[in-house]
This record gives sequence, structure tokens and C-alpha cells, in this order.
Amino acid sequence: MTALLEIRDLHASIGDKPILKGINLTINAGEVHAIMGPNGSGKSTMSYVLAGRDGYEVTGGDILMNGESMLEMEPDERSRAGMFLAFQYPVELPGVGGMSFLRAAVNARRKDAGEDEVDQLAFVKMVREKAKMLGVSDEMLKRAVNVGFSGGEKKRYEILQMALLEPTMAVLDETDSGLDVDALRIVSEGVNVLRDPARSMLVITHYQRLLNHIVPDFVHILADGRIRKSGGKELALEVEESGYAGIDDAA
Ligand SMILES: Nc1ncnc2c1ncn2[C@@H]1O[C@H](COP(=O)(O)OP(=O)(O)OP(=O)(O)O)[C@@H](O)[C@H]1O
Ligand SMILES: [Mg+2]
Repeated sequence: MTALLEIRDLHASIGDKPILKGINLTINAGEVHAIMGPNGSGKSTMSYVLAGRDGYEVTGGDILMNGESMLEMEPDERSRAGMFLAFQYPVELPGVGGMSFLRAAVNARRKDAGEDEVDQLAFVKMVREKAKMLGVSDEMLKRAVNVGFSGGEKKRYEILQMALLEPTMAVLDETDSGLDVDALRIVSEGVNVLRDPARSMLVITHYQRLLNHIVPDFVHILADGRIRKSGGKELALEVEESGYAGIDDAA
């Protein structure tokens, strides 16, 4: 079986500063993997490198999606190939209306799939339905993307985008940070609805409590640009109790 996502000995730098120092990770279709790790260990860097963000240079290794290297692909090509990143810090897009932004994204995806553009009325209805489930208000949908959204509202909006784009590989970078307890449950339900044998997720978090809602198949600890330890969901509990002190290269 070909893995949905395979990260092979990935090295990456920002400027001339090495951040990722040999990451190996295989994610099969349908699996949910969680990544935990101290501040500055390279979790967001890894998510940006997966998404193909400018300024992040891959200096070694490879990233394969369905067996094909993504390294030469632009961010939009990766997105069309099914990669989705929910940002730790979603960016505000002043002047870009939320509804037209979402529609453009969905239509680009449909065009690739050889489908017609989505009917406007049907689209608005679909967005409203999914938005309602995620606690995104109609009023928010009318505003420019993320402009003036609260921290938690931005996170919900990221998951709304994911629900509309239905990616095959979703990377969620600290989607739980800044969410109140109710929002955490709502957003987790939104993510769980999307769990599917053909879709995989990589969930970056600092908190074990998210993993009570989105139960991962595997948990990995990233420290200093490398995965130091991997295990089942019990590893998250271990970290919560003992911190990262006991995590070393031995694993
Ligand atoms: N533009 C940049 N220039 C220089 N160093 C950077 C830059 N962006 C990130 N770094 C460094 O890369 C390292 C990894 O950062 P990254 O954001 O990937 O960490 P993280 O694991 O996501 O941390 P957190 O848990 O705080 O979100 C940090 O030491 C950070 O200072
Ligand atoms: Mg981060």
C-alpha cells in the first residue's frame, strides 16, 4: 500500500538556519496523527514546508503524496493535490469578501476535477449549513476574510474552509489554541465529521485535551527538528504528566 503522505529524512532551513533535521513520518489513508512538542521545535515549520510556503528551503529528504514527490509543486498545486493547512495564525485578508473567497477556492477545486462551477445559491446554502455547524455566524461570512475575527473565530473559519474543500491530507496547526471549551467541542466535531478512510489528518497541538475529542491513531513528539518519540494516544497523557524532559533520542 502506498502511504497517503510520506515524509522522508526531511531537512529544512529558514534562511541559513536549519530547523527540520531529519523528519521521518508515514501517514496512511484514514489515519489521524498528532504532533506535540516544545515551543520552537519546528512544528509550524513542518506544516509550512508541507504546504510549500515561500522562504522555507528544503535542504534534504523528500515529501511524497500518494508516492509522488511534492517538492517541486507550488502551494496551489499541493492544495489541488489534496493538501490543506489550517494555520496557527490565520492571516487577515482585508478587502477579500469571505463568501467570494470560499467560492473561488471551491470552484478552483471543482475545475480541476472537471466539474462545473458551483451554483451560487446552492453554494451559499451549503456554506451556511457548514458554517452553522461550526459556529460561524452569517455576519462573519459577510466580512472580509479573518478581518477583525477573534482568535477563536479565525480557528473556526479555518475548519469551515477545510469542510468545504474536503482535502485528503489536512494539517491542523494548533487549531485548539484560543478556543473556549464549547468551541473546542464544536470544532472537534467538525473535524470528526470529516474523518474518512480516504482522508488523513495531522493535528499539531500542545494539549492532551484536544486528543480526547479528536482521538489520534498515533502521537509523535517533535523536539529540535526531529521526531524523538512515537506512540499511541497514551503518549499524549505521558507528556501531560511528565513534560518533555524524559523524551530523548533513544526512541
Ligand atoms: N522567519 C524566521 N527566521 C528565523 N527563525 C525562524 C523564523 N521562523 C521560525 N523560526 C525559528 O524556527 C524555530 C521553529 O519554529 P516553529 O514556529 O516551527 O516552532 P513550533 O514548534 O511551531 O513552536 P510553537 O509551539 O511555539 O508554535 C524557532 O526557533 C523559530 O524561532
Ligand atoms: Mg507553531
